[in-house]
Amino acid sequence: MSLFGLPPIWIAPMAGEAASSALVAAVSAGGGFGQLGAAYLAPARIAEIAADIRARTDRPFGINLFCPQPWRRDDAALDAYLARLAAWHAELGLPAPARPTQFEEDFEAQLQASIAARPAAISFVMGDPGAARVAALQAQGFKVLGTATQVAEGLALQASGVDAIIAQGCEAGGHRGGFLGSAEGALIGTMALVPQLVDALGIPVIAAGGIADARGVAAAQALGASAVTVGTAFLLVDECPLSPAYRAALLAASDADSTLTRAFSGRMARGLANRVTRELEGAALPAFPQPNAASRLMRQAAAKAGRADLISLWAGQALALNRAPGTAARLVAALTQGWRA
Ligand SMILES: Cc1cc2nc3c(=O)[nH]c(=O)nc-3n(C[C@H](O)[C@H](O)[C@H](O)COP(=O)(O)O)c2cc1C
Repeated sequence: MSLFGLPPIWIAPMAGEAASSALVAAVSAGGGFGQLGAAYLAPARIAEIAADIRARTDRPFGINLFCPQPWRRDDAALDAYLARLAAWHAELGLPAPARPTQFEEDFEAQLQASIAARPAAISFVMGDPGAARVAALQAQGFKVLGTATQVAEGLALQASGVDAIIAQGCEAGGHRGGFLGSAEGALIGTMALVPQLVDALGIPVIAAGGIADARGVAAAQALGASAVTVGTAFLLVDECPLSPAYRAALLAASDADSTLTRAFSGRMARGLANRVTRELEGAALPAFPQPNAASRLMRQAAAKAGRADLISLWAGQALALNRAPGTAARLVAALTQGWRA
């Protein structure tokens, strides 16, 4: 039996465009473990999407949240960032960028909505949920997972009692999930990170980052991973409601187009280089989540307008490995071929 009685192939939780009931349900129904990236969802939306997943499949699924992180409001830096967005707003026919009225969802309310949705597992990223919260969730029957980008984070999460660690290598698309030290200091590749976590910890490790076909799955298993979590490759499956501009950009990109940037959110993330990442490279930015909230209107309007130059195009380094995966079930089946039962 695989980890927690779940299938070995997991879709990575992906907040944003890919936080879709159709996609998560298709993965679970197709023989994988579907996970919903709920970080940007209001609690009521979490409830709706979870209900829709349940209506589509009776297979288990997971929910993922960003741990709340300390940040200081910095209106001067925020205004400077908004000024950088102004020309792009004008190009898109949007009103001048304004200070957001809400920067992030209420974490506790999101967590309560997640609990009410009764997923099989609740995973956290960008922080340590803490021993008390982990124990309380486990007492309610949930598997609790934490995300580590270096061994010290894995040890901290293990000390808080999580059931397993997601090892996020620096190949991974999306935001860096670490929380100790600087993001630059924890850019450890999946090949190096997974076995070091396996050796250091007494709990299972799930590999994330750069896995897009059966070879990557087999490699992760050989390194000691108890399951794999795949993000970027699932962006291109039929059920993923990716905007056409994002999809086209992914299909046109090559491995070297995946870069690390803080330009859209204030937090380091891996995605395709575009005009925004290039023009804001090195710019002093207010801390996450201020730019994330401030750039949302531009990103949404750009996606609607087919303007890939102004969208955050999160994608990992293996983006070109599996460009025509077909349905989610087909990709799950292809990946499962790399896993030795
Ligand atoms: C579009 C996108 C959104 C993501 N959003 C989240 C998220 O909300 N929570 C999270 O823990 N990880 C998130 N990630 C990171 C994934 O969990 C995972 O680490 C990564 O996709 C694995 O690497 P791969 O993209 O090479 O498969 C995201 C990744 C992508 C590509």
